[in-house]
Amino acid sequence: MKNIILEMIDIHKSFGNTKALSGISLSLEKGDILGLCGENGAGKSTLMKILSGVYPKSTYEGDILINNQKISFKNTVDAEKNGIAIIHQELNLVPNMTVMENIWLGRYLTKFGKLNKDKMNKETRMFCKGLAPHIDPTSKIKDLSTAERQIVEIIKAISKDVKILIFDEPTSSLTEVETKKLITLIKDLQALGVTSVYISHKLNEIFELTNKVAVIRDGKSIGYDSTENLTENKIISMMVGRDLETLSKKQDYKPGKIVFEAKEYTAYSSQNPNIKTVDNASFCLYEGEILGFSGLIGAGRTELMTCIYGVYDGKYTGKSYLYDKLLNINNPQDAINNHITYVPEERKLHGIIANQKISSNITLSILKQISKKGILNLDLEKKLAQEVIKDLKIKIPSLESPISALSGGNQQKCVIGKNLLIKPKILILDEPTRGVDVGAKFEIYKYINQIAKDGCSVIIVSSELPEIINMSNRVIIMSEGKIQGELVDEAITQEAIMNLGIGS
Ligand SMILES: Nc1ncnc2c1ncn2[C@@H]1O[C@H](COP(=O)(O)OP(=O)(O)OP(=O)(O)O)[C@@H](O)[C@H]1O
Ligand SMILES: [Mg+2]
Repeated sequence: MKNIILEMIDIHKSFGNTKALSGISLSLEKGDILGLCGENGAGKSTLMKILSGVYPKSTYEGDILINNQKISFKNTVDAEKNGIAIIHQELNLVPNMTVMENIWLGRYLTKFGKLNKDKMNKETRMFCKGLAPHIDPTSKIKDLSTAERQIVEIIKAISKDVKILIFDEPTSSLTEVETKKLITLIKDLQALGVTSVYISHKLNEIFELTNKVAVIRDGKSIGYDSTENLTENKIISMMVGRDLETLSKKQDYKPGKIVFEAKEYTAYSSQNPNIKTVDNASFCLYEGEILGFSGLIGAGRTELMTCIYGVYDGKYTGKSYLYDKLLNINNPQDAINNHITYVPEERKLHGIIANQKISSNITLSILKQISKKGILNLDLEKKLAQEVIKDLKIKIPSLESPISALSGGNQQKCVIGKNLLIKPKILILDEPTRGVDVGAKFEIYKYINQIAKDGCSVIIVSSELPEIINMSNRVIIMSEGKIQGELVDEAITQEAIMNLGIGS
């Protein structure tokens, strides 16, 4: 006997002229963990925003049925009352509030009309314990790392006692360890009868966790099957509508001259000046090299890169050299003047101006080159943005749309494209393919290989081992702020990286 608890029937939704969903249907049985797969811009987040009340009834067509009853939500609170909660792809926490306050926002527990802080703290602690025992409920969100913030989002949703939980790329900034914990947690919830929808571009997670998979493409349902009947390749070809070429590692690379050297970088936490986030780190970079930086979250990789780029928020010491010339970089402009660019991991904070149009976001990095006497050359802006969009196959409604109207993965491609326009000698990419679908990842990798071939040196900071292993000519492994070692060519294996990463 099937126990269908949820159906979405013939859902349509448009944003202006963009048809995001054209007739999608979906059903869930109690206790299902459904994997929702599709390329960037396929409509996954939009569909789940409809299910979770972000987009109210008047903004879409089609029906939602819970236990065979038609239902519609006015907003997310309404959906939560009906047992449906979503963990968004883009984090939505209030930076200046504590973990506890964020988790209970809008539904504070009270006792005799007063805030019951003790109870809220206790419950928060309990939820943290299972997933991230190191998170202190009284810390402010702004003092947490991206990974920790993502965990807080997850805790916030599961604390709401819901029947259907939607995870929109929950692991995009989690480590393998945290991901494993989350997967166990979702399975535990399943045992308690909670039904989940899980969006991820990481197909290994889909296979580990889900029992059913739905694939959507261009806003249409393409496939729906039990996970056990599917393979990675089957899902990918449903997603992209073609077979993908496989990416071969850069073959013909020979180390050239040393382009860049970082010497003895040490950085201190801005919150606690006694804590070293980077500890005497030195490395060099060769012409045309792709250098991977691996390590667990908190290993100091991002901190080291932000020091070099002049945007680290605490005290630090250390020197950088470009072809033996000592650099003095105190802000991004200094770095860009020296042909160094950095693509940050958290695009929402550093990468984009959400309400500005796509073309100006892409060309922001070269504003000076495309302006004359302070007047922007709009034709040139348009032309350059169009080239980037074509090169990286970015899916957009129009150049005039705000960048916030793009799907998560397509925003990421804009941020990368923007930095490629600078034509840097040294390009530092921090988690470059976070939230990017398999097809688009391939385009980004191909592009990185191409610019490295043309002589640009690329640093890739990534928590995804396959990415590090497949792309890098050399890998530096960091842990606890220190450089633990490096691996070259054939010696770059998962095992070797993990061994160095845990400091053994
Ligand atoms: N607020 C918005 N305004 C205009 N267009 C939008 C808006 N949100 C989404 N879209 C468009 O709707 C389509 C579906 O986007 P959606 O975010 O659902 O994709 P997705 O499958 O979640 O992609 P990703 O894997 O990149 O997160 C895209 O073409 C996107 O540009
Ligand atoms: Mg999305």
